[in-house]
Amino acid sequence: MSVFREDVLAGKTAFVTGGGSGICKGITEALMAHGANAVITSRKQERLDETARELAEKTGRECLGVACDVRKPETVEAALDAAIARFGGFDIVVNGAAGNFLCPASQLSYNAFRTVMEIDTIGTFNVSKAAFEKQLRARGGVIVNISATLHYGATPLQAHAAAAKAAVDSLTRSLALEWGASGVRVVGIAPGPIDDTEGIARLAPGPIRDQMIAGIPLKRMGTIAEIADLALFLCTPAASLIHGETIVADGGHWLGGNALATLMGG
Ligand code: NAP
Ligand code: COA
Repeated sequence: MSVFREDVLAGKTAFVTGGGSGICKGITEALMAHGANAVITSRKQERLDETARELAEKTGRECLGVACDVRKPETVEAALDAAIARFGGFDIVVNGAAGNFLCPASQLSYNAFRTVMEIDTIGTFNVSKAAFEKQLRARGGVIVNISATLHYGATPLQAHAAAAKAAVDSLTRSLALEWGASGVRVVGIAPGPIDDTEGIARLAPGPIRDQMIAGIPLKRMGTIAEIADLALFLCTPAASLIHGETIVADGGHWLGGNALATLMGG
């Protein structure tokens, strides 16, 4: 049972990038289960349609899947227009689309580094800017940027993603500074390792998984539901003074130094 009132987001619409899978699918479900309608977006229309059907059935709210590539502003604008056409506007934007893989900096191709920067950082800017211009400037709202803790200290094999998420955190602060006066709150979430996700399948393969858990003070990974609840909290009036801040939810993982760094001798 949820600790939040089930209609706390009634009348709201959320636009969630990366909402077809993993953590951001979980966030979308939590927002919908508490009254919001949702538009989910990523590159694969088929997966979006399947997720939209599943979440609508589960929550009784409406969910629309619209394919777009966050690296391409024209596709982002078209997806936001589709949200406005279907729901009359939107109030919540979650920037969750991201790409990552393990790779030593010396072996990253120029294009590999650029690709991750483009999806995570430029994608977050593209979506935030277009959403602000189209809706949020006039009606206010909340932007939630999904970050990470990779760049607190440093994480081996993650030069690309750490740089991209550091820039996302910087954007969270800059946009908060400039857009707060328009009634737009901009906040971030930095998850630690989250179980049953594509991210953890890629970053903690095989035996690294158990060693990583051993390095987490709570001795377990987080769950998608825990990150979803935090996102939900940040979208409610209970979080009305939280602005420009990125909240860590990692069971204390980064406090002990990065477990992956220890494993890699970093
Ligand atoms: P995920 O399911 O793979 O989520 C990433 C999403 O981004 C996918 O739905 C993907 O869908 C979409 N995407 C990728 N490139 C895109 C593009 N160019 N345009 C639009 N959408 C795109 O992985 P996840 O592990 O749940 O990660 C979700 C978020 O949490 C990410 O921001 C990640 O950095 C962050 N995070 C995760 C963890 C973890 O432990 N899993 C830890 C810290 C932070 P398509 O392939 O269909 O485009
Ligand atoms: N190691 C090193 N380089 C890699 C790589 C890996 N595992 N995977 C891709 N790359 C390189 C490619 O070789 C390419 O560089 P090149 O042109 O110099 O050869 C560059 O990255 C772009 O790859 P491409 O597959 O063309 O990009 P894409 O836009 O189709 O996909 C990715 C983006 C690479 C991030 C892909 O993994 C993806 O779609 N991820 C989304 C899901 C995800 O990462 N979830 C976890 C979130 S934490």
